[in-house]
Amino acid sequence: MELRRLSLCLALFMLAIIMQRSDAHSMRKRDADDAYEGLMGDEANDDETQNDAEGGNDPEEEESILAVIQTLPTVYNVTVGKTIRLECRVEPADGPVIQWSRNKQPLFMGHLPMISKGIERFSIAPNSNDLLISDVKPSDSDVYNCSVLQNPPVEIEHTLSVHEAPRIVRFSASDNGTVVEGSDLLLTCDVAGSPPPQIMWSKETDAGNVRLQETDGNFSLNSVFIQNIKREQAGKYYCYAINGVGNAQAELTVKVLHKPQVRVHHTVINSAVQVEAVLQCSAHGEPTPSISWYKDGSLVDSASQQYVITRDGPHSNLTVVPQMDQDFGTFTCVARNNHGKHNKSIELVQRPVVEELDVVGNKLTWKVHSHQPLETIELQLRDMAMGNLTVLTIPVPTSKGHEYEVTYVLDNLTPAKYEAVVKAKNTKEWSRNSDPMVVEYEAQPMYIQHASVLGGNSHSVRPSTVLLSTVFMYLLVRMF
Ligand SMILES: *[C@@H]1O[C@H](CO)[C@@H](O)[C@H](O)[C@H]1NC(C)=O
Ligand SMILES: *[C@@H]1O[C@H](CO)[C@@H](O)[C@H](O)[C@H]1NC(C)=O
Ligand SMILES: *[C@@H]1O[C@H](CO)[C@@H](O)[C@H](O)[C@H]1NC(C)=O
Ligand SMILES: *[C@@H]1O[C@H](CO)[C@@H](O)[C@H](O)[C@H]1NC(C)=O
Ligand SMILES: *[C@@H]1O[C@H](CO)[C@@H](O)[C@H](O)[C@H]1NC(C)=O
Ligand SMILES: *[C@@H]1O[C@H](CO)[C@@H](O)[C@H](O)[C@H]1NC(C)=O
Ligand SMILES: *[C@@H]1O[C@H](CO)[C@@H](O)[C@H](O)[C@H]1NC(C)=O
Repeated sequence: MELRRLSLCLALFMLAIIMQRSDAHSMRKRDADDAYEGLMGDEANDDETQNDAEGGNDPEEEESILAVIQTLPTVYNVTVGKTIRLECRVEPADGPVIQWSRNKQPLFMGHLPMISKGIERFSIAPNSNDLLISDVKPSDSDVYNCSVLQNPPVEIEHTLSVHEAPRIVRFSASDNGTVVEGSDLLLTCDVAGSPPPQIMWSKETDAGNVRLQETDGNFSLNSVFIQNIKREQAGKYYCYAINGVGNAQAELTVKVLHKPQVRVHHTVINSAVQVEAVLQCSAHGEPTPSISWYKDGSLVDSASQQYVITRDGPHSNLTVVPQMDQDFGTFTCVARNNHGKHNKSIELVQRPVVEELDVVGNKLTWKVHSHQPLETIELQLRDMAMGNLTVLTIPVPTSKGHEYEVTYVLDNLTPAKYEAVVKAKNTKEWSRNSDPMVVEYEAQPMYIQHASVLGGNSHSVRPSTVLLSTVFMYLLVRMF
């Protein structure tokens, strides 16, 4: 260590002398040789005597040759960890002193390091003037000059560009990625790489991996801030780092804590004594909620013979086999977690259940569920303009199991807008009214009925076809 510091001081001293000389006089080749030899270990005293002789006529002065650098300025692109050799071929090779500097800071004078710190990975390649840098780091990227210390000096500039594929140092989320709905979320992606990587964000959705938009959050260099987070924003987030050398990605899962949300499959279910009914419920929440069932406000005893409760992820089924009329009633599915609770009810009934009333043109379709035989089906049509009501009795079709599929085509009505409602009665009781549907009843146009009767009559051309061909003829005429 001591030896090293000593030689460094010596080198700096030598440099000072050389600089002084080249200021005052033109530097001859001989001097350069001397300086070089001095650096290589000659006594420093020699220089003083040389200096004295300077003023006189040196016989070798006419022989001075200026050295040239044959290497061209180069941009070195190298990946991190490699060893790179920055070339500096000088002609004549054994003559002048070469100095390497990095962005004006001297690194080496000949083979001598000019700095003591951070030079470990730098050296001058044996039998050359080339600068070797081992295990290159992105921070080594800089301009490196090779100069021949003569007057006038010559130098070349090399550029070292150390590339490193991106690396994701840390991808993190505020509160470890578990946030309460309505609060804020900060995603941070710390990346490394050279050139500095660009960061992109995306989220896994039902429609695949979707890039985050300006509207999804506030973006900064390496983070995205999402205010007032919603439960739909829970899920997998990705951070991508790209810099042209390579790319890297990382993912994390965001959980948005919120109270449960309950859904039920059907709100009214028809069953009969000794007929098993399955009441289906699902509850989503974060954390996963507990699910319990109530009948008419009292907790359902799952140990009872009458009930079976099954659970599969967010789903819960309550299977009931009613033994008597009192076993029908209102069942409520209640979901709870530490952020709240929510419930939905299902009615288990013996009356028929009318569902899926639909209208296409003058045709009405619906379904009736009833384990008890159906006795009557009624269609009520309210004239929406006049307010008067027509009640039609619809024939009961044969059932498929406990389901009746009904189709009815309206006929012989005054053309008007009607509100249609269906209800049905089984051996036990009347159903509730179905949800109403609006029907616009129009009488069948007469000429269409005639056309369909006449069938293939070549003279029955429909008006729209006539119009079309007229337009077509007009276009043909226009074209010529
Ligand atoms: C070196 O990298 C730069 C960008 O970093 C690029 O523009 C240049 O073309 C590269 N040169 C070579 C020789 O690969
Ligand atoms: C390196 O050499 C070039 C070419 O001679 C010169 O223009 C530049 O100023 C030098 N750079 C440094 C940092 O010394
Ligand atoms: C953050 O989450 C990770 C994985 O989900 C877990 O291993 C770690 O213990 C959590 N850290 C804190 C501080 O909660
Ligand atoms: C972005 O920041 C602004 C101002 O703080 C805020 O009004 C806005 O809601 C933020 N956007 C998102 C998506 O969080
Ligand atoms: C609930 O019942 C339905 C219909 O029988 C069935 O498909 C589903 O798997 C059941 N779910 C559970 C959690 O038992
Ligand atoms: C269901 O929710 C309603 C409204 O919040 C509440 O009044 C009722 O008590 C709840 N029912 C059960 C069984 O928890
Ligand atoms: C309602 O009353 C008008 C006028 O009295 C009658 O033309 C129409 O057919 C009635 N509609 C129904 C649905 O009874």
